Amino acid sequence: MTARHFLTLLDLSPTELDALIQRAIAMKAEQRTGNAEQAYQGKVMGMIFEKSSTRTRVSFEAGMSQLGGHAIFLSPRDTQLGRGEPVEDSARVLSSMTDIIMIRTFGHEIIQRFAEFSSVPVINALSDSYHPCQLLADIQTYVEHRGSIQGKTVSWFGDGNNMCQSYINAARQFDFELRIACPQGFEPDAQLLAANSDRVSVLRNPKEAAKEAHLLVTDVWASMGQEDEQEQRLEQFKGYQLNSELMAMAASDALYMHCLPAHRGEEISAELMDHPDTVIWNEAENRLHAQKALIEFLLQAH
Ligand code: CP
Ligand code: NVA
Repeated sequence: MTARHFLTLLDLSPTELDALIQRAIAMKAEQRTGNAEQAYQGKVMGMIFEKSSTRTRVSFEAGMSQLGGHAIFLSPRDTQLGRGEPVEDSARVLSSMTDIIMIRTFGHEIIQRFAEFSSVPVINALSDSYHPCQLLADIQTYVEHRGSIQGKTVSWFGDGNNMCQSYINAARQFDFELRIACPQGFEPDAQLLAANSDRVSVLRNPKEAAKEAHLLVTDVWASMGQEDEQEQRLEQFKGYQLNSELMAMAASDALYMHCLPAHRGEEISAELMDHPDTVIWNEAENRLHAQKALIEFLLQAH
């Protein structure tokens, strides 16, 4: 049987995604009450990180442990991948020794090539184009606090980056409206936008985007790999900060999220980051629970 992969949210059907979110909520409760089962003893995850990470590494590693398995951290600095061994060869070898593999890298096509040659499920743990694992945690967090996200309005502020593009896929799969407020020149991929024009719109005015929205989301203005543009981007994104002024335009029970790491005073105000009612820390913790549900789904499907 060929392996199921999770390279974008489109790899699972809307029904499978809804079930996965419910399973993540249940697994979180089981972990809290000490009733979690170590159902995956002896299973091994390979974790390839070509970019930095705090949440993704710890959530996958802790998650595998809690499931009874083990995770191996692989960085290009100390593997042959970093010395130019082809992705295809690495995929064949690593998948012959592990049960599931996650990759964080630059070009999305690297993950696609790896998955093509892997005999076990491959998870996209962030590429330049998508960060689908974060969306599982975000949707879980919304559902836990407000119920179904179907039919709601979500507003994105800032860069049309990997997170924004994952929100476009989420809008399709979880059936909500998405408004993207970004400066000219920082729109998400044009083809992706065109394919989802029935539910996704691009606006220039953040206040207009925030109006009556149920969920407001932002992310850093310079992603990993764009460090050189950081200074220039501070200027280019001025006015797109997620702050209490925008929250005041939103629906009265609106939530706001940030995948983290955050820059207080840049893409999000310190006030929102440090607000006692923020769900941002639940959102971060849910990476653990949502990915445990994902690992279970992929191992069962394999
Ligand atoms: N949100 C997220 O993926 O965080 P890390 O970069 O710390 O893994
Ligand atoms: N857009 C950010 C997300 C970090 C989790 C980046 O790619 O650096």
